[in-house]
Amino acid sequence: MDTPKDSHARLSSLATRDGQLLIGGQPAERLAARAGRTPLYVYDRAAMSARVAALRACLPAEVELHYAIKANPMPAVVAHFAGLVDGFDVASQREMLVALDAGMDPAEISFAGPAKQEAELRAAVAAGICVNCESETELERLARQARDLELPARVALRVNPDFELKGAGMKMAGSPRQFGIDAARIPAAMRQAEALGLGLEGLHIFCGSQNLRAEAIIEANARTLELAAALTAQAPRPFRSLNIGGGYGIPYFPGEQPLDLAAVGSALGDALERHRAALGGARIVVELGRYLVGEAGYYLTRITDLKESQGQLFAMVDGGLHHHLSNSGNFGQVLRKNYPVVIANRLHEAPTGTANIVGPLCTPLDIVADKLRVPTLAVGDLVCVLQSGAYGYTASPQLFLSHPAPLEILV
Ligand SMILES: Cc1ncc(COP(=O)(O)O)c(C=O)c1O
Repeated sequence: MDTPKDSHARLSSLATRDGQLLIGGQPAERLAARAGRTPLYVYDRAAMSARVAALRACLPAEVELHYAIKANPMPAVVAHFAGLVDGFDVASQREMLVALDAGMDPAEISFAGPAKQEAELRAAVAAGICVNCESETELERLARQARDLELPARVALRVNPDFELKGAGMKMAGSPRQFGIDAARIPAAMRQAEALGLGLEGLHIFCGSQNLRAEAIIEANARTLELAAALTAQAPRPFRSLNIGGGYGIPYFPGEQPLDLAAVGSALGDALERHRAALGGARIVVELGRYLVGEAGYYLTRITDLKESQGQLFAMVDGGLHHHLSNSGNFGQVLRKNYPVVIANRLHEAPTGTANIVGPLCTPLDIVADKLRVPTLAVGDLVCVLQSGAYGYTASPQLFLSHPAPLEILV
């Protein structure tokens, strides 16, 4: 029997052969051999494609899907998504270059994020991508770069709405924020854009991230469309597109249930129906990162040593916090809980006890799994952290203690 500590929605859907975890149909050990060493991240193409297909099946057909590259900017992953989604959202010039290299049409790339630098604004104008402006002064700076380059700038306004995404793991709107322009200031910002000769393309309203509660996303979507409709009425001309954000979460911890996507999709269809006339034919964009890649990623690390300390078993592995900060519990968690973690070469063996799986850093924070129920372990076993496709490789302090970087492969 699983204890509550081990029970996780994701564990029941794992593919195995002869006790080995299969990723993209291939045994984990074989993938580690192909990479040449551990630790490594493995991303599963088919799982990403399946996720996009599930979204297309549940969301209204007219809704466009954008991938927020920040979740996983590995160029091969981004290239895979280029053939699946309708656009990309980037958060830096480097991400912009990855998006363009992947073959995405610049017309379908938007650039959001506070504190954009002059060089980033200039690059965005030169590339022909849309800048989601986060402040009135950013509008002025963008217009200056456009004049200087003698090119038209493409611009949307990021709105800080006066409501939040309830229950989001990370709230990004609805209070004083560095993100976006307060909703009450948007009409004036629209006039300012007009006066600066910037043809405003649309609005971007992103309320939060990592939400598993369908009813909260449904409410945020309804309020977002209501706000977009009210602002459209004050716009100089109809908008080309309205990015209504996303925030769809994935289950990381015991007891968490996957998001009810069908409910979100059907309510979004109803809300679009209600506001259709007032939205003036604008394209509706949903922007997702984690939901597209999170469940498609696996972090593999190998046991290098085993020891007992005061009655507890410790399994030391060759990776840890420096590669996978969020799994260690140090990226936004208040009380640390285990991600779903399995022994990838012993999935046919029943648990015989518990182990603390820890990395090589000289800090008690470097936890891969705490008191995990495990079969009898041996040096050389492969530990796998599931739900690792988003905010792993690039959201971790890889230089800390100067260990080698993990590898990344796409299967
Ligand atoms: C503007 C914007 N778009 C998209 C995302 C991606 O969020 P998620 O990966 O939770 O879908 C974020 C996350 O912070 C964001 O700030």
